[in-house]
Amino acid sequence: MSTTPKPRPRSPRNKTIRLSEAEVQRYRSRLLRLSGPVTLEKLLDRTICQDALEVFPWLPSRSVDLLFLDPPYNLSKTFGERSFARMSLADYEAWMEQWLSQLVRVLKPTASVYICGDWRSSAAVQRVAERHFVVRNRITWEREKGRGAKHNWKNCSEDIWFCTVSNEYTFNVDAVQLQKRVLAPYTDSYGRPKDWQQRGKERFRLTAPSNLWTDLTVPFWAMAENTDHPTQKPEKLLAKILLASSNEGDVVLDPFLGSGTTSVVAKKLGRRYIGIEMDEYYCCLAEYRLERAAQDATIQGYADGVFWERNTWAAQQAQRLARSNRSSATQLKLLSSD
Ligand SMILES: C[S@@+](CC[C@H](N)C(=O)[O-])C[C@H]1O[C@@H](n2cnc3c(N)ncnc32)[C@H](O)[C@@H]1O
Repeated sequence: MSTTPKPRPRSPRNKTIRLSEAEVQRYRSRLLRLSGPVTLEKLLDRTICQDALEVFPWLPSRSVDLLFLDPPYNLSKTFGERSFARMSLADYEAWMEQWLSQLVRVLKPTASVYICGDWRSSAAVQRVAERHFVVRNRITWEREKGRGAKHNWKNCSEDIWFCTVSNEYTFNVDAVQLQKRVLAPYTDSYGRPKDWQQRGKERFRLTAPSNLWTDLTVPFWAMAENTDHPTQKPEKLLAKILLASSNEGDVVLDPFLGSGTTSVVAKKLGRRYIGIEMDEYYCCLAEYRLERAAQDATIQGYADGVFWERNTWAAQQAQRLARSNRSSATQLKLLSSD
């Protein structure tokens, strides 16, 4: 059933994606609903609108290169028309175990798995992950946004557990470097920059990707990717995961797709995708975003093959301009030598 939210007046600068009933009708026809086992070909680049737990036994074995899991956290939260009620940590662990154990069969032996959670459920996530995978790291994402507490520390971080099926796995470390501002621009004895470069007015250094992610904002109204989904992940976050842990043409599965972020980023980066989401309106949002991704493959915060810190838009533009000036100069040179 559709859960189209009631329209509220919005500022003209608000870019939040909201679908009309007519659009929901149109995108609904693209959704897949399964009633039994299917081949991989039938699932590729599709959104399945169904309870994922019902679908898992029907997914083809050894078909997925990268599994991204962003299930409801152990919090009381409403997603569309359904509510998820907070339970004991033991019950949350048992709930995860029940479906995660079924997904192991679907993964290739070289696959990677990322599992999101909040601090409260992180211990349960780790225990379940350790029963099935090689746990390689815990990424902490500093969300920035968060509600202040009077008698506790404000919670503004999330955990993302990085696991692999075996010791043979993809990790493209050079594809996920972070371009960081240089505060102390050291030079060598000739006065040349040591390991940094000037970009416009600012100086940057490429740094190795760490397990502390501070360069990501939660999508908000001024961002073109923003929707009304209550826990939408930023495209930039998925871009890091997909670039590091998959290659072009690889199959990425997200069984708690929400507003479609994983599939959208997979499409933008030339990966194949399978998304599962039980709420029809969210599925339609995913289809709308996928359609838009075919025209615009940009990912906010990722440009020219590197990830940029927050608030570096001007430097990104300067780099783009410098690059286009360089290519025009090369073209002119070629023309004049013809
Ligand atoms: C944390 S959100 C995922 C958000 C997503 N990563 C995004 O960027 O929009 C979890 C999603 O899982 C969906 N969900 C919960 N239980 C599900 C189930 N059994 N089958 C399919 N989807 C489910 C919810 O409707 C919700 O949209």
